[in-house]
Amino acid sequence: MIEVVGLRKSFGPKQVLRGVSLSVEDGESLVVLGGSGTGKSVLLKHVMGLFKPDSGHVSVDGKVVDQLSRDELFELRKSIGMCFQDAALFDSMTVAENIGFALTRHTDLNPTQIRARVEECLHLVGLVGGGELKPSELSGGMKRRVGFARAIALKPRILLFDEPTTGLDPVMTDVIGNIILDLKAELGVTSITITHDLKSAFQIADRIAMLFRGECIALEHPEAFKTHPNPVVQQFLKGEAEGPFLQDPPPLHHYHGQPAPPAPRSAHEA
Ligand SMILES: Nc1ncnc2c1ncn2[C@@H]1O[C@H](COP(=O)(O)OP(=O)(O)O)[C@@H](O)[C@H]1O
Ligand SMILES: [Mg+2]
Repeated sequence: MIEVVGLRKSFGPKQVLRGVSLSVEDGESLVVLGGSGTGKSVLLKHVMGLFKPDSGHVSVDGKVVDQLSRDELFELRKSIGMCFQDAALFDSMTVAENIGFALTRHTDLNPTQIRARVEECLHLVGLVGGGELKPSELSGGMKRRVGFARAIALKPRILLFDEPTTGLDPVMTDVIGNIILDLKAELGVTSITITHDLKSAFQIADRIAMLFRGECIALEHPEAFKTHPNPVVQQFLKGEAEGPFLQDPPPLHHYHGQPAPPAPRSAHEA
């Protein structure tokens, strides 16, 4: 359903994606792991058509995203629910208004129908009765859940989660993981979830990919991922400081002669 083929993207002299290829099947939950600054968010933004590849492409349902017309791209974005790390709710609106915002804008539903759909979404994320609260009255975990509810309001076929649990305590991380599983079961959506959290990765993944320095170095079912021979994968899984993960990046020619950027300090840096 989603196919990424040889995707390359640089910003100025900095090569962020260096030929990423991976695919996500219909209804599959793919988790993407990787250190900070490896291009995970940039990858998701290509799926949304927010960035244009330097070379390679992303296709959704067989259509190349950066070749879509404006109208087609608009339709594609409506079919994708995106949850950013920062839920970015509108502070002046209630929870219900936040969730209903896209419905008011993009559908012909009347206010009663919108209220019903908002209630449905609140139910799916376990926030029944919370519609009249303001974002300032919510905990971090609740804000994330409202962000999920908003992302699913238009009944997307695809959900993209960018670090949905970063900054949450382990219990709320588990709750969010369960919500993602429920959404998958109830809506049958295809999803890509970026996370640093190994527990939630194994909780929600049908397959796990690992990005490292702009390349996809592993794409496996969870059991095979655990025993993946790549030492970078093993170091990430063990969360150890010693290993190739923190070693100097590859030679200068990868960066067009610019000084190499510093290596990420920690696999779990937010
Ligand atoms: N719009 C942009 N302009 C310039 N550089 C960017 C832009 N978006 C991301 N980058 C750079 O791309 C690299 C990867 O970013 P990102 O995908 O956000 O990393 P992460 O894997 O932590 O999500 C970073 O070094 C970031 O500075
Ligand atoms: Mg990111």
